[in-house]
Amino acid sequence: TLNYLLVFILAYLIGSFPTGVLMGKIFFHEDIRNFGSGNIGTTNSFRVMGPVAGSVVLIIDVLKGTLATDLPLIFHLRGPKYLLLIAGACAILGHTFSIFLKFKGGKAVATSAGVFLGYNLKFFGLCAVVFLPMLFITSYVSLSSLVSIVIIFICSFWFHDIFLTIITGIMMILLFVRHRSNIKRLINHEENIVPFGLWYWY
Ligand code: G3P
Repeated sequence: TLNYLLVFILAYLIGSFPTGVLMGKIFFHEDIRNFGSGNIGTTNSFRVMGPVAGSVVLIIDVLKGTLATDLPLIFHLRGPKYLLLIAGACAILGHTFSIFLKFKGGKAVATSAGVFLGYNLKFFGLCAVVFLPMLFITSYVSLSSLVSIVIIFICSFWFHDIFLTIITGIMMILLFVRHRSNIKRLINHEENIVPFGLWYWY
């Protein structure tokens, strides 16, 4: 149990790694939080720093979730599989309430995807199959993330894994809480659109 406690703390620290902020400071000498939506995540990194930096943030933020989720396997710890999800949840908490950013942080989308990648490849595939067409149709990352997590939550029941459903439900709540400003912007028709996809071209 002490081992698991250490794993959860390590998972939280991994999740806390502020990829977007560091990329901005190192390569652009700017604080990404002062630009665009002010978020530290993948979407705002693409928006503010362009596709190369954006892709790096996406990959690292996803892998934070994957690595944290698989820590118990890496350290050969025994125990029920749901402990992987708790480790993943610690990384999401770290990303969202980072110890390096005065307990502020991102909106949990990429790191949550990473947790699914580390836990169940089929479920991760399902997330991609739901999210990517949604993004293509709506041209809004925030809207796609919110609609997708609801669909993914419903689909999670097919996997007959109560812990997967519980964590997806918690993620869904967290995503809606973290996207409050996006929801306001969507309602006021002020949300940032991504420059591709059906709604953008329309
Ligand atoms: O990556 C999070 C996304 O859903 C919204 O990001 O920067 O448009 O608020 P942003």
